[in-house]
Amino acid sequence: MLAPKPDPNAAAVARDPDALAARLREVHPEAAAHPGEIRVVFAPGRVNLIGEHTDYNEGFVLPVAIDRGIGIALLPTEDGVARLTLAETGETREFAAAAPGARQNAWIDYVAGMGWALAEAGLPARGFRGVLASDLPQGAGLSSSAALEVVSAWALSGGERPGIDSMGLVHLVKRSENGFIGLNNGIMDQFASIFGEPSSALLLDCRSLEHRPIRLVGEDLALVACPSGSPRRLAPSADNERRARWEAAVAAIAALEPGVRALRDVTPAMLEAVRDRLEPVAVRRAQHVVEEDQRVLDAIAAFESGDLATVGELFYESHASLRDLYDVSSPELDTLVEIAQATPGVIGARLTGAGFGGCPLNLVPRDAVPDLRDAVLRDYPARTGLTPRVFEVAASAGARRLA
Ligand code: GLA
Repeated sequence: MLAPKPDPNAAAVARDPDALAARLREVHPEAAAHPGEIRVVFAPGRVNLIGEHTDYNEGFVLPVAIDRGIGIALLPTEDGVARLTLAETGETREFAAAAPGARQNAWIDYVAGMGWALAEAGLPARGFRGVLASDLPQGAGLSSSAALEVVSAWALSGGERPGIDSMGLVHLVKRSENGFIGLNNGIMDQFASIFGEPSSALLLDCRSLEHRPIRLVGEDLALVACPSGSPRRLAPSADNERRARWEAAVAAIAALEPGVRALRDVTPAMLEAVRDRLEPVAVRRAQHVVEEDQRVLDAIAAFESGDLATVGELFYESHASLRDLYDVSSPELDTLVEIAQATPGVIGARLTGAGFGGCPLNLVPRDAVPDLRDAVLRDYPARTGLTPRVFEVAASAGARRLA
């Protein structure tokens, strides 16, 4: 293998199959020897329109797969070795595709975890030589981890759709996160990356797993992401704290209402009835989830009737709830949402994804995008000393083969 050069512009090739295949031929001589066998696979990141921290409470989410993600050009091999190079840094790591062994505590773990999960499910995990490029900013809350896991499942399947139905693959990604990486995330991110559809958001009932596309109204509506430039500070202890709190709320309510299994089943009145038996912080955490589920349903009705003003109000309410009740916003995210709210024309803005840093998503008529961009680029550095990025994202298809 040649020592690959780092490439700070690697993002530009993430969705360009010819350019990505050319990188592969440069870096891995086996691929240069078999150019006709090279495949290129891609999995998108996501934004979530509304329904935050509801997925692991068996509630509703409304994500959109976006037109940015992670591409891998690969040559399938028969040697069982998965060897992957990052186009951006030139770093190469490898593992035994069907028996990855211990974690390396590096990005490759998300790839290796899929080998582990495929093998555990009795599915083939093949070797390959690959080059990876991403145009998803990392730590921005746009789900680069899920995109990496999903595209890896395709790479380890010889560059083909993995031999399991799409919802099965969603659960395989979760299995890898739980059993190999050691994370206890919900299913929204990989669901969006796998099921994405152009021009649509995806309503998912995280209990029944029923889902349907929700057409995004009109060509003139833009989704604008503004990564805050401050890294996500997601402490596992913070996740555990929230889990303990909503479990306590569910247990207290279930003692009175036997039908209750998850916050999905809880109404505001039920929560009110146990308010005095819970710590105030447990009530706040549960209240966010209960009300956020309702906001998803209200947002769908509003989207479907073209009532964007109501969608915008729900966006701001969701953000305030994540800030004040679930405590997962940050001063930077709040500042970006305030700037959006003060910009004429913007319909709504809210943090998207887990929070603790990351990215607000803005819903904006296309002709107001320049005003929002100007306001963010002018006011955000002045208020925080940080450099934001502002870009449109478009609803796109899920994981697929590009070549
Ligand atoms: C992260 C998790 C998702 C979901 C969101 C919050 O992105 O991976 O499963 O819980 O946070 O809505």
